Amino acid sequence: MKPITVTLTVNGQTRTITTLPNKTLLYALREDLGLTGVKDACGGEGECGACTVILDGEAVNACLVLIGQADGRSVETIEGLAQDGELHPLQCAFVETGAVQCGFCTPGAILAAKALLDRDPSPTDDAIREALSGNLCRCTGYSKMIAAVRRAAEEMSHAR
Ligand code: FES
Ligand code: FES
Repeated sequence: MKPITVTLTVNGQTRTITTLPNKTLLYALREDLGLTGVKDACGGEGECGACTVILDGEAVNACLVLIGQADGRSVETIEGLAQDGELHPLQCAFVETGAVQCGFCTPGAILAAKALLDRDPSPTDDAIREALSGNLCRCTGYSKMIAAVRRAAEEMSHAR
């Protein structure tokens, strides 16, 4: 199989990688770009949401995107959320509400929540639940995550 060269924007920076065309965005981020915040919890079957990233503004399972499909597009990963050493309000709220336990699902859940807040800054609990519905968490029971997203939305509305 012949490698392909792909250029994409990752957390605001242009990155070019040469890799095999059957590699998923999930493994290109982890192996070629060293961004290991994106996780694989279901063997890349599209079942767990641990690999969620934001692709052109939409939360997607990175295990279901071939690297070639990301060519020319913009990707946000958990590594890009903190700015100038300050955690994103969602990251703070997840910590403060106890929505992080084993933490394996956390990066994906936070990115799913960020994609929601980017398009709907004051979502209902139902909208939050819906946004997180593809992100399996075995630890938190979801109520803390929902509280965290609500809290981050409030924080962010005061900051505007
Ligand atoms: Fe589980 Fe992608 S690794 S949905
Ligand atoms: Fe453990 Fe969600 S915190 S799976």
